This record gives sequence, structure tokens and C-alpha cells, in this order.
Amino acid sequence: MAKPVSIEVWNPNGKYRVISTKPMPGTRWINLLIEQDCRVEICTEKKTILSVEDIISLIGNKCDGVIGQLTEDWGETLFAALSRAGGKAFSNMAVGYNNVDVNAANKYGVAVGNTPGVLTETTAELAASLSLAAARRIVEADEFMRAGLYDGWLPHLFVGNLLKGQTVGVIGAGRIGSAYARMMVEGFKMNLIYYDLYQSTRLEKFVTAYGEFLKSNGEQPVHWKRASSMDEVLREADVISLHPVLDKTTYHLINKESLATMKKEAILVNCSRGPVIDEVALVEHLKQNPMFRVGLDVFEDEPFMKPGLAEMKNAVIVPHIASASKWTREGMATLAALNVLGKIKGYPIWGDSNRVEPFLNESVRPPAACPSIVNAKALGLPVSKL
Ligand code: GLV
Repeated sequence: MAKPVSIEVWNPNGKYRVISTKPMPGTRWINLLIEQDCRVEICTEKKTILSVEDIISLIGNKCDGVIGQLTEDWGETLFAALSRAGGKAFSNMAVGYNNVDVNAANKYGVAVGNTPGVLTETTAELAASLSLAAARRIVEADEFMRAGLYDGWLPHLFVGNLLKGQTVGVIGAGRIGSAYARMMVEGFKMNLIYYDLYQSTRLEKFVTAYGEFLKSNGEQPVHWKRASSMDEVLREADVISLHPVLDKTTYHLINKESLATMKKEAILVNCSRGPVIDEVALVEHLKQNPMFRVGLDVFEDEPFMKPGLAEMKNAVIVPHIASASKWTREGMATLAALNVLGKIKGYPIWGDSNRVEPFLNESVRPPAACPSIVNAKALGLPVSKL
């Protein structure tokens, strides 16, 4: 028997019981649920990652919906438990849902929500921050200062890479990859090479127009190229950012062989999912190539790092914070809550899960729809006409 887990309760007499496995930023998400007759139970357990047993104990005998986190293992066991408790809705507070077995959710008729559209720019900004931090050796230099080692300006002190005129490579030019590409092209006048199964016409048009603008100003224009293979990006780019979804086809996309095709002084950034990189191979590559640098937000065995990574001076490492801006995290909480609420209330599914602004505007009531349900089709859920 799992131990009971500690909770905080809002609106105890609410008709629908909704659980959040973690406290989430802001209060709007709580108010939106309460206004619609939900009793909200927030798990306040101190441990960071809840086990399946902890969540089963939270679900109990009657539960209408759960808001969960990307660290939790939402598979057959949890969906069966939720379904037994009468629950028909689960939402990850994340855009990625590789922690969710959607087939299992389908089997139990549980809708699975995620939170796209609200973290695009925030995540792209972190990828840009890691690119800059790696290029200009910010973390190494910061550690040097704090250690009291600075005793005067030197010509060779923390010399890094100039981005202007270099090539930024994007693998996966979806929402986040495209936003990152635009930041690097526009902000640092980098050329773009990207690899994606789909052509990103908007991105191409943007780079073309910006190149023309620079040219009309008497500056060096920027260019774009759509690569025909990922290897082409790896070979040609100076800074490469990874933005694929994690699935069987992208597991260890970056491995010993692909690392060897990259430039010796390249920068690799990963704000997608850790297992996209073979981290053992990466540590070895960082050891062998001191001028090669990496910026990582995610890790293969989160929260752990592979041995040796933490000691590498040419690695900038942060704890999965790409979506961690106040606006985005509050928005993610709101979208996750509205996914669950919408399903409980029988609302239809929002027509375009990338255009979620109407749900985030605090001064008006959100639309009567679920912002984003990934298995809406499989469950035959109706689409909103709003
Ligand atoms: C964060 O990693 C997310 O998928 O939202």
C-alpha cells in the first residue's frame, strides 16, 4: 500500500474532483477550475518526482481529471486507475508528451492534453541563451571571476566565437526551431541551414526578406538553405540547435558518428529531450575536442548526468528550464487546467492548438473549449466552431 500523499484542497465542496500532481505557477488556473465547480487538490509532497504509486494514491476512488508533469510515467497503470475512478481527462503541463502512453489513454477513453503555443518564444530564447553562453564562454568566465582569479585584462582571456556571418543549423524547424532560427538570424546576422521533413516557407521568406533589408542597408545579406539531410546541417553549421520530438526515430540522433561529422569548433544546443543525444558519446567528444562546445537544457537520464559531463568546461548545463519564464509557466498551468476542465464539461476541442491566445487573456473568460487534446481524433472528440 502506498503511503498517503500530502495535499492542499481548494473549494472542498466542488462537484468535480481535479488533482494537480504539483503546485503550478499563478492562481488563475485554480480560479478557473473553482469557478466551474471543481474541487482542486494540489499535491504538496516534498519529493520532486512522484512515483506511479504516489499518483494512484492521489487519484483514489473518485477523480474526474488530473494535471500531471513530464517527469511522471503516465502509462497503462495510471490510465487504468484514473478510469476506475471515473476520470476522463489528463493533461501534461508540457508541450512534449513522451512520458505519456497515448495508446493506453485511448484504451481507457482518457483525453490527453498538452500545452503548445505558449512556450515557443520562451524555449527559443533559452536555446539562444545557451548558444551565446557557449559561444562566449560565459559560465567559465563567471566561475573564473567568482574564484577571484581575474588579475587583469589579457589578449587570450576567454576568447570565444563570433556568431555574425556564421551559419546556424536547426534540426526540426517546427514552432520552436523556427522561432530560434529567426532570433539567431535577425539578432546575430547568421546564415541559416535547416533540416525538416516539411518545408518551412514562412521561415525561408523571413530570412530572404531580412537578407534583402540588410543588403539595402549596405550590409552583408543573410541566406538560408534547406538541407536534404541532417548530416548536411551537421557538416556545415557553426551552431546547431536540436528541436525534434523524441520518438524511436530520433533516439540518439546525435551519436559518436554524427558528432564526428560536426566542425571541431561547433556549438551544439539541446532544449528538446535528452535521449536525442547519446550523452556518453557526447562526453567523450567534449573531452577529445576542447574547442567544441555544448549547451544543454535536457539530459539522457534526467535528473542525472552521464559521468564526466559535469566536469567539462566546454559544456553549459541548466536543469530543464527552457519553458521557465513566468508568463509561459503560468500560461502552461492555465492551458493544462482548461484541457482537463473542458473535457469534464464536455466542451469541444479548440480548432488550432497553436493559437491559444484567447485562453491566456486574463481579462476575458476563456473560450468553452479544450485548448489542446493530442488524442482528440482517436477518441472522436468534436472540434470547436468558435
Ligand atoms: C518541456 O520540456 C515541455 O515539453 O513543455
